[in-house]
Amino acid sequence: MDWDNQPDPFRRYDQSLTLPLEHPQITKTPTYDSLFDTWQEPITPINRDSISRLFYESLAISAWKQAGENRWSLRVNPSSGDLHPTEAYLIAGPIKDLSDVTAVYHYSAYAHALERRIILTNEEWKAINQNLPPGSLLISLTSIYWRESWKYGERAFRYCHHDVGHAIGAITFAAAALGWKTRLIHSVTDNDLAILLGLHQQKGIEAEHPDCLLAILPTDENNTPADLIVNLSATLLKRVKDIEFEGSPNTLSSHHHEWPIIDTVAEACRFNGDSSLIQKRVPSVKYNNENKLDNDRRVSARKIIRQRRSALAMDGHSTISKESFYRMMVHVSPHLGKNIIAVLPWHARVSLAIFIHRVDDLPAGLYLLVRDPDHEPSLRKALRSDFSWDKPKDCPESLHLYLLQYANAIDAARTINCHQDIAADGAFALGMLAEFDASLEQYGALFYPRLFWETGLIGQILYLEAEAAGIQSTGIGCFFDDAMHEVLGISDHSWQSLYHFTVGGPVDDPRLQTLPSYWYLK
Ligand SMILES: Cc1cc2nc3c(=O)[nH]c(=O)nc-3n(C[C@H](O)[C@H](O)[C@H](O)COP(=O)(O)O)c2cc1C
Repeated sequence: MDWDNQPDPFRRYDQSLTLPLEHPQITKTPTYDSLFDTWQEPITPINRDSISRLFYESLAISAWKQAGENRWSLRVNPSSGDLHPTEAYLIAGPIKDLSDVTAVYHYSAYAHALERRIILTNEEWKAINQNLPPGSLLISLTSIYWRESWKYGERAFRYCHHDVGHAIGAITFAAAALGWKTRLIHSVTDNDLAILLGLHQQKGIEAEHPDCLLAILPTDENNTPADLIVNLSATLLKRVKDIEFEGSPNTLSSHHHEWPIIDTVAEACRFNGDSSLIQKRVPSVKYNNENKLDNDRRVSARKIIRQRRSALAMDGHSTISKESFYRMMVHVSPHLGKNIIAVLPWHARVSLAIFIHRVDDLPAGLYLLVRDPDHEPSLRKALRSDFSWDKPKDCPESLHLYLLQYANAIDAARTINCHQDIAADGAFALGMLAEFDASLEQYGALFYPRLFWETGLIGQILYLEAEAAGIQSTGIGCFFDDAMHEVLGISDHSWQSLYHFTVGGPVDDPRLQTLPSYWYLK
């Protein structure tokens, strides 16, 4: 690894018009738990303040850390290796107190500002969002694979898409705190999206790859159209294709190491239009909210969102209550009411295999959270036949949680997770099992990155759940999937562990100094 050549974690479009955003204060309301409750949040109007909040509470810098001469930034969204390959673009009509024109902007996390890339005509904007509720916005996410491949080589593809899932989650939470809904849109192909964002003009290993398009809907459920469709007309694409975009992307590294397999995989997974993924207003929910975990802990959603951090180490003794654990499991499962998971249009494809180490009143052992009851027959077939499948004590009726085997799994969790102590020293650690073959057979290769998005979204919920419970968590991208599968008895690709996580009592590193997020701005 060539440390002197570490890619710049901040993309800038030099010479573009830059619109600085506000740095809003944390508010007591909405509470974190209210984001999962029935829809009551007032819908905040779209203006400079609310757009500032949307980005400040999803993708902005949250703090800087310093150790000796070294200083690095952390963001509201986490990232494998803190390398932050995900970039974001806002596509919006005129925004009160911010812009009089319709435009495509790049979000600069370093400056907490919007960098304008192109102006669209009002007619073009009208055509783009004609099927969306009035006032809707679009956010697109892209990845720079080089930022991750610099350190992780081929694994970069996987890590970039975990990060996309986390970013989708971060945006969905920030929008929910404003009373807005977020939905993944599948009516625009990756090639067309690249043209709208000007990515077709980027070449080489530092080029951004289009990942996804999100609609941000400042509306309630009753006013949401049945099919969420965004149109990019041939005329618009033709005009934009040859236009000169404002600003040019900064260079991230002076030299590079090629990883051609990443481009091959990215090409195979390109989204070329598949209408079966278009978001339908069919509730992908098979749970109801009859559990008794709904008392609001009254912790500020914005505080939790901005303070989110990965634990660097776990203390090896803190426990959590079983009620806290069950609430986390309810919040990562599709359920009725406000639903962060509803941002993804497909039925849940991921269930959780959990090593419980330190949850009060629950025996240590291997557990399984079946996030969609449809997974159960296939999981029963794939997993070891001697598992007991017992419902744990006081488990909410709606939660499909099973104790598979009593075990002290502390050493196994450490070994499976690349010998990392954080997986052994927390309250629990888990592996996210994706319904692999069946998903790829149904949708093809384009669904491969989407499986990582679902795991990243679950991870983002777990990060905030841990903060809300007064502890912390850490995503684990480094793990041995074969060892995990062996413990579970999985011998084929019907279920594949794609992402791991640990939750527990954190240990701070006193050598690290913390600086405010935007200390260098006036
Ligand atoms: C996809 C993903 C994989 C990660 N894998 C690991 C890991 O294997 N071990 C670890 O200690 N931290 C891991 N992390 C945590 C990152 O190192 C952390 O997010 C990053 O340093 C930024 O810090 P923050 O989360 O406090 O903002 C991972 C994070 C993500 C999002």
